[in-house]
Amino acid sequence: MGVCLSAQIKAESPYNTGLNSKSAGSIGNDLSSTNNSKDSAVSVPQTPRSEGEILQSSNLKSYTLAELKAATRNFRPDSVLGEGGFGSVFKGWIDENSLAATKPGTGIVIAVKRLNQDGCQGHREWLAEVNYLGQFSHPHLVRLIGYCLEDEHRLLAYEFMPRGSLENHLFRRGSYFQPLSWSLRLKVALDAAKGLAFLHSAETKVIYRDFKTSNILLDSDYKAKLSDFGLAKDGPTGDKSHVSTRVMGTYGYAAPEYLATGHLTTKSDVYSFGVVLLEMLSGKRSVDKNRPSGQHNLVEWAKPYLANKRKIFSVLDSRLEGQYSTDEAYKIATLALRCLSTESKFRPNMDEVVITLEQLKVPNLNAGSQKRARRKSADDVSHARRKSVDGVNRPKIPTTYPRPSASPLYA
Ligand SMILES: Nc1ncnc2c1ncn2[C@@H]1O[C@H](COP(=O)(O)OP(=O)(O)OP(=O)(O)O)[C@@H](O)[C@H]1O
Ligand SMILES: [Mg+2]
Repeated sequence: MGVCLSAQIKAESPYNTGLNSKSAGSIGNDLSSTNNSKDSAVSVPQTPRSEGEILQSSNLKSYTLAELKAATRNFRPDSVLGEGGFGSVFKGWIDENSLAATKPGTGIVIAVKRLNQDGCQGHREWLAEVNYLGQFSHPHLVRLIGYCLEDEHRLLAYEFMPRGSLENHLFRRGSYFQPLSWSLRLKVALDAAKGLAFLHSAETKVIYRDFKTSNILLDSDYKAKLSDFGLAKDGPTGDKSHVSTRVMGTYGYAAPEYLATGHLTTKSDVYSFGVVLLEMLSGKRSVDKNRPSGQHNLVEWAKPYLANKRKIFSVLDSRLEGQYSTDEAYKIATLALRCLSTESKFRPNMDEVVITLEQLKVPNLNAGSQKRARRKSADDVSHARRKSVDGVNRPKIPTTYPRPSASPLYA
């Protein structure tokens, strides 16, 4: 870690794209009031070269370790919101206006991620998160509020997403997590697609590289936002078709050509989006060795069924029965299949995905049957119940299944 600290880490930065940093406002604070008073005024900070410059030029709040300790009740185990490859995520509290750490239980709730990994890789990912997420502001990207860099300690403070990850809602069983309804799945897919489309847009040109259900977080209204930019990369510039990278990501989500060659394009993210869409349709994990042989890899198993209107029911989550029409299901299955094309050129871009999902969502929301409305209100009741739990003392739910997490992947 010491070596990393003094290293001049290349800023794989959105700064040089001319991206304007606008206030996120999702928690109601303007972190960047010094340079974003006019949304239309493009303020382009100097391209930072070292991590010191990156941190100085960000609009994020810099916390001491003592402050984040105080905000999280000394990282108490019962404040744990989740665990990932990076470390644990704790619930904490800050003052809404000053963003200073407050007494737990007062002010607003945040999520504090604490790096528990040694070495350069962990530090690099931490810095990439600060560098990307600290500059972006979009309704479908989680807002990064601040960071802590003290000795070997690396932490990040995010807006709190009360309903946790899509992964929990899709794959955890038990009374705490009710199965997501068809219309909520469509909404979450559309929100996440908008987040990716923003990253891929000419304005930002970023490849996310770690699109998966655990990185899609849900707010109290089920608005979905992407988190975790530790593996994000600037897209190719000039006439280059791809960026060459060490193959990193999560098994089951990475595009085949990326696994084989390390060549990364925005279409690699589109493939991962297709995997997530398939997981949402089927309620099954992308990789699960506990399934019967021939079904371990969801994409390989499901692909032949997706292309046939009469066979798609073999893939669809049985908990969704009665909530969709065959036409709707077939359109989503076709979209998933296109995103999962082995040849990247046949995959749609994320703008097309957004348009397709928007077209599907309209009839679903407007012409929803009474049954759907009833189902939705049933959802809302159970959410309200869970919300009070979330707001005070979220029960700790142990992870009882194999979870995929981001790591180097080798072909
Ligand atoms: N801002 C947040 N608000 C609420 N819960 C969060 C927040 N960020 C993370 N979590 C919870 O903590 C869990 C762990 O998150 P983390 O990003 O560290 O790991 P992961 O995405 O599960 O795996 P990986 O390390 O492969 O990215 C998430 O799955 C989610 O349940
Ligand atoms: Mg994550």
